[in-house]
Amino acid sequence: MNQDYIKPDNWSIIEEGFDAESVKSSESLFSIGNGAMGQRANFEESYTGKTFQGSYIAGIYYPDKTKVGWWKNGYPEYFAKVLNAPNWIGIDIEINGENLDMNACTEVTDFRRELNMKEGWYNRSFNAKMKNGTEIAVNVTRFLSITLDEVGIINYEITPLNKDAKIVYKPYIDAGVTNEDANWDEKFWEPLEVKHTGNEAFVTAQTFKTHFKVTTFMQNSVLENGRNLNLSPANFDTTTDKIQSSYDVIVGQGKKSSIQKIGGYTVSLNHTNTLTAAEKVIQSALAKGYDQLLQDQIDAWAKIWEMSDITIDGDVKAQQGIRFNIFQLNQTYLGKDSRLNIGPKGFTGEKYGGSTYWDTEAYCIPFYMATKDQEVARNLLTYRYNHLEKAIENAEKNLGFKDGAALYPMVTMNGEECHNEWEITHEEIHRNGAIAFAIFNYYRFTGDYSYIPEKGLEVLIGIARFWHQRANFSKDKNQYVILGVTGPNEYENNINNNFYTNYIAKWCIDYTYEQIQKVSLEFPSDHKRIIEKVKLAETELQEWKKVADNMYFPKSEELGVYLQQDGFLDKDLVPVKDLDPAQRPINQKWSWDRVLRSPYIKQADVLQCFYFFEEHFTKEELKRNFEFYESFTVHESSLSPCVHSIQAAALDKMDMAYTFYLRTSRLDLDDYNKEVEEGCHITSMAGTWMSIVEGFGGMRVKNNKLHFSPKIPKEWKAYSFKINFRGQILKVDINHYETAFSVDGTEDLTIVVNNNAVVVSPYNTVTVK
Ligand code: BGC
Repeated sequence: MNQDYIKPDNWSIIEEGFDAESVKSSESLFSIGNGAMGQRANFEESYTGKTFQGSYIAGIYYPDKTKVGWWKNGYPEYFAKVLNAPNWIGIDIEINGENLDMNACTEVTDFRRELNMKEGWYNRSFNAKMKNGTEIAVNVTRFLSITLDEVGIINYEITPLNKDAKIVYKPYIDAGVTNEDANWDEKFWEPLEVKHTGNEAFVTAQTFKTHFKVTTFMQNSVLENGRNLNLSPANFDTTTDKIQSSYDVIVGQGKKSSIQKIGGYTVSLNHTNTLTAAEKVIQSALAKGYDQLLQDQIDAWAKIWEMSDITIDGDVKAQQGIRFNIFQLNQTYLGKDSRLNIGPKGFTGEKYGGSTYWDTEAYCIPFYMATKDQEVARNLLTYRYNHLEKAIENAEKNLGFKDGAALYPMVTMNGEECHNEWEITHEEIHRNGAIAFAIFNYYRFTGDYSYIPEKGLEVLIGIARFWHQRANFSKDKNQYVILGVTGPNEYENNINNNFYTNYIAKWCIDYTYEQIQKVSLEFPSDHKRIIEKVKLAETELQEWKKVADNMYFPKSEELGVYLQQDGFLDKDLVPVKDLDPAQRPINQKWSWDRVLRSPYIKQADVLQCFYFFEEHFTKEELKRNFEFYESFTVHESSLSPCVHSIQAAALDKMDMAYTFYLRTSRLDLDDYNKEVEEGCHITSMAGTWMSIVEGFGGMRVKNNKLHFSPKIPKEWKAYSFKINFRGQILKVDINHYETAFSVDGTEDLTIVVNNNAVVVSPYNTVTVK
C-alpha cells in the first residue's frame, strides 16, 4: 500500500532518483509555506512532464460561479476557490542553445530533493545530460521567509561538467495562471500593470469580482562562484500579464554559475499601494542578502521547533511523520492574522475550495493552543466571531431560520457558504456544534474567560438559537428530534437523529444557557450589552431549555451502544474485516447509493461525540461503542485515524493505537489514500499531534489542571513533547519505565499523573514511575 519512496530521516523529507510518475506527488510533499503564502514544489525551469502548478496567497480567493447539475434552493451562488496565484518562481534556462527540461534531457542522474524541516528550506539537485551533449550539475535551494513573510528566495546554481557553457537565465513572473478546479475554465486574474526597472520587475493584477490587488515581484542577481556579477538584463519580454528578463553568461567547465531570485507578493489586504510596497520589500530583502535571510529562516524555525517539536526515539518513520505534520501546520498558519485560517490543503493544492471547515475547531485548535501563545487560538475563535453576521444571514436567507439563529458555513473564506452539495451544505449542520465546543475548549485549556463576555457569548447564542429552531417535537417519541442531517460520517445522508448531532445540539444549548447565567453574574455590563443587542428574552431561554431537556438520543439497549442514526441497525452489518479489500476504498469503487446503504463509516461519528465529551461517558460505554463502530469504519477521511488512535490508547489497545498513529502521521508521506498529488491533508495533521499528546500521553485538562496517563508504543524507546499551559511550558519525557516532567516558567505547576497530584517546580525535573 505504501508509496514508499520517501527516505526515512529524522529531520528531512528526502526523495532520491528521478521518477516522472511521482513528480505531482512530490510537488505536494515538498511544498513550502510561511503562513502568508505557499507553493507546491514545482520546478523553476520549464518542465513538459506531468505537473500540477500551484502558488497560493493566504486570504486571497475567488468566488467561482457554482456549477451543479440540478439547482436546489439555498445553494450558494458561488464557491470560493483557493486561488492559484501568479507564478514568481519560474526561470527558463537555455544551455548552449537548448532549453533545460528534465523531461527532455538524454539522462538525469543523482536526482535528489530534500525538504529540511528543521531549517525551513527546500533543495533539489541533479545531474543532466542534454541532447546537445552538455552535461551539467544543478543545485537549487528555495525558501519562503518567515521573518519577511512577503518574500521568497531561490538560489539556482549550475555547474557545466564537461565543457564551457553559454547559459541564458530567463526569470519571469506570470499572472496568466488558472485553477485546475475552475468551474467554467475562466481566468481569475485581471492584469493591471507590468513594470520593470534594472533587475526588478513587477506584475500587478487583481482578482475579478473580489478585487484583491496583488503585485508579484522579482529581483534577480547573477553570480559566478558566489561573486555577484552585477549584470543587467539583456532584455525584458513583456505581455499584459507576464514579464521575463534574460541574462547571458559564459561559464567555464567546472565553474559554478548561479542566479538568485527574490520574489513574492504584496497584497491589498495589507497595503494601499502594493507596487511601492513591493519596491520596499525588495530593498529590505536585498539589505539582508541571501545568507542573512537564510540564517533568519533557520533561527525562526528553531524558535518554532523549540516549542512545538515532538521527539520519538527508536522509530525514524514515526519521528519523520510527526515532524512533517508539525512542519506543515506551521507552514500553513502561524496565527498572526485573525483574517486567516487553516485550509484542509493549506498551500499544497486547490481541492476543497475554501479555507475553513469544522476541522479548525474540532482538530486544529488543540495543537495551536498547546504549542503557541494563547493569542493564536483566540485569533481562530475571533475569525468565527467576525463571521457571525454572515452566519445569521446564511441561516435566514438561504435556509429560512429567524431571529438571529446562526448556521456557520461548512466551508468558507469570508463567512459565506461556499460548498454546494445539499447533503453537506444544508445537512452537515453538526459543524455549528464544533464552533461552540471550541469556545468551551479554549476556556478549559487557557483559563481565559474574557473571550466569552467579549465575543464568544454572541456566537453561542446564535448557535443555540439555530439548534432550538432546527429540532422539532415528535409526538410519537414525545421528545425533540433532529431530522434530515448528515453527521460527520458523510457516507450517510438525510438521516434522522444522528446521535452526534443531537448530542452536540443539546450540549450547545445547555452550555450557552450556563454562560448566559455566568456572564450575567460576573460581567453584568457585557451581559446587558449582549442581551440588548441580540434581543434575548427569558421566555426564549425557557423554550431552548425545553428542547435541550427533552432531546431524543437513539440507542440500542441490547447492544449497549448509541445509534449513529435511527435506522443504523437495519443495515446489512457486515464488518470491514469481511469486506473484500479489492472493494476499497469504497468511495472510489462503489456507486454512491451503495455507499449510502452500506454500514461503512467514513470517520468517527458516534465516536466523535465520545472524543469531545469523554467525561460524560463511562470507560465501559466507550469500549462498547468503540468496538462496535470501529468494526464498520473504513477511515476514508484523513480526520478518522487520529480520533480512533486516541480512543484505542485510552482503552489500552496499544497495537491498534500505534497502527492508527502511523496511518495518520504518514497518511501523505506514504500516500495511504492514493491522492497526495492533489495536495497534503493539513488539518488532519493536527489530529496526528493529538494522537501522541492526548492518545499516548493521555493529556486532558480537568478542573484547571493538566492530567496525564502516559503510555508508549512498544515500537518506541521514548518520546517527548511540550505544552504551553497558561504561560508555563511543561516538558514531558516518556519512556517504558518512567515519565519526567519539567517546567520552564516561574511558578510551580500542579499536574495530575495517573490520578495522583504531582507538583512540578521550575527547573526541577520530577519523575513518575
Ligand atoms: C471530511 C470532513 C472534512 C473535510 C475537509 C471530508 O472528507 O469528511 O469531515 O471537514 O473532508 O477536511
